[in-house]
Amino acid sequence: MGDRRLIFQTMESGVIKSYIWTFINRFLHYFLILTFALSYLSADIDTLFLVHIVCGVLFGAGVILRVIWGFIGTKHSRFWDFNYRGILEYLTSILGNKKHYIGHNPASSVAIILMLGFGFLVVFSGLLQYGAEQNSGIFAPLFFTYSYFYMGDDLHEFFANCLLFIVAIHFCGSLIDKFWSKGDAIDSMLNGYKRTQKDESVSLNPAQKAIFAFFLLFLFALFLYLLYPKNILLRSSAQDFFTQDSNKTAFGEYKQECGSCHIAYAPFLLPKSAWDSMMSDLENHFGDDASLEEETHARIAAFLEKYASDVVDTKFTQQKESQQIAITKTPYWEIAHRKLNPKIFTTKAIKSKANCQTCHKDAESGIFAKNAVEYFKLKSLRENL
Ligand code: HEC
Ligand code: HEC
Repeated sequence: MGDRRLIFQTMESGVIKSYIWTFINRFLHYFLILTFALSYLSADIDTLFLVHIVCGVLFGAGVILRVIWGFIGTKHSRFWDFNYRGILEYLTSILGNKKHYIGHNPASSVAIILMLGFGFLVVFSGLLQYGAEQNSGIFAPLFFTYSYFYMGDDLHEFFANCLLFIVAIHFCGSLIDKFWSKGDAIDSMLNGYKRTQKDESVSLNPAQKAIFAFFLLFLFALFLYLLYPKNILLRSSAQDFFTQDSNKTAFGEYKQECGSCHIAYAPFLLPKSAWDSMMSDLENHFGDDASLEEETHARIAAFLEKYASDVVDTKFTQQKESQQIAITKTPYWEIAHRKLNPKIFTTKAIKSKANCQTCHKDAESGIFAKNAVEYFKLKSLRENL
């Protein structure tokens, strides 16, 4: 199969141009480049975390659409029409007299499969991490089964770097093709045309046109949906884990009794021993008297113990042992906030380290995801310190 498509050696003459890459191929190509670049570059910028995840999800959607197109697209876009054979020969002759391919050359063919594969992995691992760690997005239900899905802190990053690596090779290959071999791969990705000996042009049939229209609409709708704050793909699910609790009264009571002076801290922020010692001395509760009626006390204590950090399996279970009963005195908390200027906690807007909700929008639901951090507010506070 493959060999029939090796139409001519690069230097042969008598060529015409055929329309090989319809607009949809080029569109998906640049859509993937743009969304990957934006999500990669914004990954480590806290204030741009939303850009990171929105572009990440759009990239993932682009990968899926490209895979679909690989089954139902035009001739050269289909996976079985790729030229996989001859990759070694192709790579070893990379600076020499290469064969010319109408569709994807072997190096590109393999690179595309790898890029789509890693593209899928990077998005999937990102969503998984976002769910299991941040209790957000479609995998939020995995939050209480953290250790099963804990893949190491860096797996998502690793996949992203693998993808970047292949992208870099693919890009260098296309530069070599253009500037060394005087090939037309890059140009064809801009205008759709490649040199061929006879007319090999493709065009979209009505069904493919409809599919393309659907792809565009789908991506646009997805983009708008991602901007909607409660979208299920990204939302920091202020879904209340505890509403499913068999003992709903305890949760209600907890919010009422322990949420009057400060927020009702999510129970999985402290270990059982800390809750026990706090609950056994509510008369002297950080300088306040927070004592409760006996029965309420028992129900709230049981509720806190049931969801304590060392009882449920969350990210917070991994905390180092500590005797602290204040969340803000635990080593975990101190490490997470080490980058903040301590003065910020005494500003009027924050007042106390214990006012988590002034910086973490959904703190009461136990959500501390980056996209729920008030970075802009912090920025302005920092400027006025
Ligand atoms: C009368 C007011 C009041 C009530 C009611 C109250 N607290 Fe507190 N709590 C405080 C104060 C004041 C602090 C110290 C806050 C600070 O450091 O700024 C505190 C701190 C805490 C902290 C530590 C926060 C940190 O710094 O990490 C926890 C946990 C806590 N309370 C849990 C509870 C629980 C559980 C209940 C219900 C049984 C409860 N509180 C009821 C006043 C109250
Ligand atoms: C002055 C603002 C501020 C206050 C108050 C604050 N935080 Fe944070 N918190 C931050 C910032 C900023 C980060 C860093 C997020 C990042 O990694 O970029 C952070 C990070 C965290 C993280 C780590 C997030 C992660 O995914 O690893 C946790 C958990 C957390 N905070 C919990 C709390 C709790 C619980 C309280 C209240 C007891 C609290 N924070 C109070 C600003 C604050």
